[in-house]
Formats: sequence, C-alpha cells, structure tokens
Amino acid sequence: MRTPIIAGNWKMHKTIEEAVAFVREIRFKLTEIKGVDKVLCPSFVALAAVKELLGPTDIGLGAQNMYFEEKGAYTGEVSPLMLKGLCQYVILGHSERRAYFGETDEGVNRKIKAALAHGLTPIVCVGESLEQHEAGQTEEWVSGQVRAALAGLTAEQVRALIIAYEPIWAIGTGKAATGAGANAVIGLTIRGTIADLYDQATAQAVRVQYGGSVSPANIAEFMSQPDIDGALVGGASLKPDFVDIVRISAEVKGV
Ligand code: 13P
Repeated sequence: MRTPIIAGNWKMHKTIEEAVAFVREIRFKLTEIKGVDKVLCPSFVALAAVKELLGPTDIGLGAQNMYFEEKGAYTGEVSPLMLKGLCQYVILGHSERRAYFGETDEGVNRKIKAALAHGLTPIVCVGESLEQHEAGQTEEWVSGQVRAALAGLTAEQVRALIIAYEPIWAIGTGKAATGAGANAVIGLTIRGTIADLYDQATAQAVRVQYGGSVSPANIAEFMSQPDIDGALVGGASLKPDFVDIVRISAEVKGV
C-alpha cells in the first residue's frame, strides 16, 4: 500500500516573510487532514523559518535542488549535508532546472545518490516536451530519463525515492494531462521501466506523483487513477488551494 503524497513546489516565489505568513495560515488545516503525506518545498532561504513553524506538525519539508558534493569551492551551491537536519525531501531534476540551469541526466543521477546517501528523500522529476508529446516520443523519452536517473541504484534505494511525472507542456499552462493519460505514462512507462530494471515488486512499491497544472478542480481525476500516488503542485501550492488539494486527495485516496 503506497501512502499518497502531495508536495507543493513553490519555485522562486515568496520572501521569508511571505512564506512564514502562508505557513501560519495553512499548517494546522493541513495537519487535520490524515492519510496523505504533505510536503512544502519553499526556497532555500525560507527553509529554516518554515522548519520552525512546522515543528509541531506532521508536515514534511523539502528543498527544490541540491548539489551532489558535501562541501567545497562551489559558489552558490547547497549540499546534502546542509539540507539534512533541515528538511526530509529534495526535488531533483525539475524540468525548469534541466531547461534553464543545464541540469543533465548524469548530474541528476549523482544528486539522487548523494541525497539518498544522506537520508534525504529525492522527488525525481521526469517528463516530455510538447514536441516530444506530439511526435509520440513520450514513452521512449520518459523511460530514458527514468533509466538515467536510477542508474547504479539498488532496488531498496529506488523504493525509497519518489518520482514525479511532469509533462512539460502541462506545467504552468493550465492544460493539465488527463487522468487516464498520466496514469498510462506512470503505470506503463515509469513502472514498466522500473519493473524491467528491477522487478515488479519494486515497480509497485515506488510512489509516483503527477505534476502539471494541478488544481482543486482536477486533483480528484488524478487521485482516482490506480498508478498515481499524489501530485507535485506548482502554482496552486502558493495559495490556500493547496489545502483543498490535500483534502480532496485524502477523500479520494487517503489510507
Ligand atoms: P504548476 O502546478 O504551476 O503547473 O507547476 C507544476 C510543477 O512544475 C511542479 O513542480
């Protein structure tokens, strides 16, 4: 039985003050909702303040990126050693990082290994572009991203991470995938690739989220799919809508 997990990726939004005000507004409402893991991913600079506020709650905290080295002359980077103790999750390989910051499959793989080595749970993002989607290349592309991300990992490590299927054409566009479409990619392509690489039990154990224009209006459609275990929410996670998304998820699929 996979526990559903809803994570909010705030991206480059909210100052520390805004983060604090928002978390004060939503934290106890979120805590009342049971049966679903809840995670907030603010910017690096707001992590410490948000950690303080989440202290008495069951809400998890995540970073949006991380470098793979523990320390050294890497100006501007944040290491797993710095994150461990501060948060439990780290988003890795988001399409915006791949598109704007030169993130490669190999780098994502190294980051995943570093995160796991330090007890952080990676949320590994994969997904195809509009061109790939329209050219019918989704399966090949996403499968390749999954293989590259998981290279060298043990089955036990794979079970410990989370994958987020985020079709790039659905991110921030208001044009979400359909529940059935996302479920097919997650069930057949992502779990299928993991079953190929490892075994069916591992493929069934790993939690896989959908991301891309998730809202209170469409979350039930995703959560009612058998292979979708939750959502990685962008824009709607900046607003009280996030609480509604978590509540609806618990109603549809809470354990
Ligand atoms: P939106 O929910 O704003 O489409 O963003 C999705 C996303 O990229 C989450 O990581």
